[in-house]
Amino acid sequence: MTQQVIASFSKEFATPQKTVEEMIEFIGENVKPKDKVLIALSGGVDSSTVTSLASRAIPNAIYPIFIDTGYMRIMNGRKEADVIAEVFKDVPNLIVLDESETFYNKTFGIKDGNEKRKAFRSTYDSVLNREAKRLGCNIHMDGTIRPDIVETKKGLKEQSNVGNVLLFEKKIEPLAPLYKHQVRKCAEAVGLPEEIAYRQPFPGPGLSLRTVEEIGREKLEVERKANDIVERGVERFFKETYGKPFLYDELTGERIPFQYFAVTLDNSLQSKNKDEREIERYVKSLTKKDTMAVTLENKSTGVAYKGEEMERIYTPVLALHIDGEVSSLILTHLGKVIPQKFGYSRVIHEIQNGNGKFFVSIQNIKSLNAVTSESIVNLPAYRNIAGEIREKCSGVGAVFQDISSKPPATIEYE
Ligand code: XMP
Repeated sequence: MTQQVIASFSKEFATPQKTVEEMIEFIGENVKPKDKVLIALSGGVDSSTVTSLASRAIPNAIYPIFIDTGYMRIMNGRKEADVIAEVFKDVPNLIVLDESETFYNKTFGIKDGNEKRKAFRSTYDSVLNREAKRLGCNIHMDGTIRPDIVETKKGLKEQSNVGNVLLFEKKIEPLAPLYKHQVRKCAEAVGLPEEIAYRQPFPGPGLSLRTVEEIGREKLEVERKANDIVERGVERFFKETYGKPFLYDELTGERIPFQYFAVTLDNSLQSKNKDEREIERYVKSLTKKDTMAVTLENKSTGVAYKGEEMERIYTPVLALHIDGEVSSLILTHLGKVIPQKFGYSRVIHEIQNGNGKFFVSIQNIKSLNAVTSESIVNLPAYRNIAGEIREKCSGVGAVFQDISSKPPATIEYE
């Protein structure tokens, strides 16, 4: 059994500096001179903060490891692994491993979203266990934060970084009492650059959750490129409009947008049924425009409530084609009402038509803590982003915007 050691603070989050000091002390108290500590460094704000804290608290005992799973993003035109190697170049014993083929072997071709998550997690665990053994590490330290624990307890998430069966004596979670906005302040306080401290969240299984159902090399390449185009296009729009690639609300701790990314779906339609004809009539009654509603064969995740408990369910995606412009107000309304009345979790709205074996959906959301979210629809930049995706990602037909909210949709598609 792995002993779990979770940080708790003497007071609620006082100041970032005070919290950083307490965490450094906490790490030092829980690591003995002979211990060797493995840190799974994903490049996100949480594990990056842990790595920086530990490199101050116990520099001689740490083995931070960045595993390139093959499902990482492009960062400003560079491979994420190269960016990480540079940002953490002064951290002792940093290991950067390319395990792409190991992950592809275990995850390509899996249709069911939850099976894919499980395959990813067991591959991740076995790589981490293998490295721990090779390095002789007896302790695992990670960047689990408070919402990860809450959502996993509620059964909402097959977390890649919570509940792993790893062969360590001890697991240390220094950030467990913190929310994301508090971690960002601590990241700044330990001197991490803004591109890491204010980075949008990225799930452990990465682009595998955004390449819906069966993954192969071609589909994954489309996803990686489309995701880069969405990230850069949204950031460019914010920079031109607000002077910064994103907004940060100091009062609430909200980063706007919270997350923005591309999702790659298969262009395959289920046969039409009477619900879709009813949806078409309903949409036309609000928009006064001709509408086509189709159910995709791909399923995507939603959340269902069982009393207090939430469960991750998989339902087909509903795609809407509406002739002409539709206001943001109506689109957001449709994204809320259609799931409630017709049992879909996720609704997407076509912004550019075309033929091809893949569809791409732009997910761009507002959220404080990922527990609930709403889509940012009709961003003026979407037209150019869609055009660039169709031009640069071969095989992409139509491009959509996600108009769903969480609940009943989830932020990730699987
Ligand atoms: P969902 O899709 O559940 O996502 O609405 C909520 C937030 O959690 C992130 N997420 C994950 N993070 N491992 C992670 O480290 C995971 O398996 C995982 N699944 C979802 C997601 O990006 C969003 O911020």
